[in-house]
Amino acid sequence: MTRTPVLPDQDAIGRAAGVLRGGGLVAFPTETVYGLGGDATNDDAVARIFAAKGRPRFNPLISHVASLDMARRLGDFGPVAERLTEAFWPGPLTIVVPRAARCPVSLLASAGLDTIAIRMPDHPIAHALIGRAGRPLAAPSANPSGGISPTTAAHVAEGLGERVDMILDGGPCALGLESTVVALVGGVPRLLRPGTLTRADLERICGPLADAADNAVQAPGMLKSHYAPDAMLRLNAADVAAGEALLAFGPDLPPHDGPTENLSPSGNLLEAAANLFAMLRRLDASGVGTIAAMPIPQTGIGEAINDRLQRAAAPRGEPGL
Ligand code: TXA
Ligand code: MG
Repeated sequence: MTRTPVLPDQDAIGRAAGVLRGGGLVAFPTETVYGLGGDATNDDAVARIFAAKGRPRFNPLISHVASLDMARRLGDFGPVAERLTEAFWPGPLTIVVPRAARCPVSLLASAGLDTIAIRMPDHPIAHALIGRAGRPLAAPSANPSGGISPTTAAHVAEGLGERVDMILDGGPCALGLESTVVALVGGVPRLLRPGTLTRADLERICGPLADAADNAVQAPGMLKSHYAPDAMLRLNAADVAAGEALLAFGPDLPPHDGPTENLSPSGNLLEAAANLFAMLRRLDASGVGTIAAMPIPQTGIGEAINDRLQRAAAPRGEPGL
């Protein structure tokens, strides 16, 4: 596996595009998390992504695009898709729409569904890579299935090692949580996965959103246990026991001598989202049995942070993505 220096140049991006056109896998930075990219139109490349992650085949992948033209060849855009993508692309929004009649994306990437998830990342390396590959890239988060999503190139190398052909290092991801996923398939738009683009941001553009649970169509990957560290996670902790690690939030910490990370000493939710996965990894690496996580307000981006914390705390055993 080749890992580029931080901020790879156009040569490195050109080499990565060649790897992708040849059916290989390239991990690349986006503004949310690192993606494990392969040619979305190549069945073998898509199968290789599932194998590298150990991901269940029923869990579909997002196709990443560099232009609206590319997106419209993949999926049928209704008026709500037009408005949302106009407002938020490029950016941390994934839309799920019906597959277009001549959609070139591998059916494997859609896990047999007649819908497709599409996103245009807001990152210069991702943008250049997709453009130079000249095709949509299927890219789940670049972590082994069920683990914590990677927000640095080092996280990708630790988790996937030689299962990825090349890693483009763009430094730490600015947002740190995966994109908001909205289904635009008949009826009312549904929020399938909360993200840093909040429910209120979306509702300003498309009106009230239904929740995934309100309808049978859910994100097949939204399994209960996900983002799981090795340690157990204890949520809404008001105090910390000896031998536990503390995942803190805000200025007022309970007394504690052991490993501690503060998501945001000033109580800023955007900062907390950006720190969440890297801090969970560091506390996990300290070898504690339990991480006590202080409460996070359920407002704005807090909804997405709490979603990830609840999945990280869920009983294990179910495969994640
Ligand atoms: O920020 C992100 O979205 C990152 C970066 C790399 O773009 N990608 C990412 O991919 O988080 P992944 O595979 O880890 O999560 C994709 C989510 C899963 O919950 C999956 O089930 C859902 O999107 N999804 C994909 N296609 C779908 C479809 N056709 N219908 C419903 N849900 C779908
Ligand atoms: Mg993932």
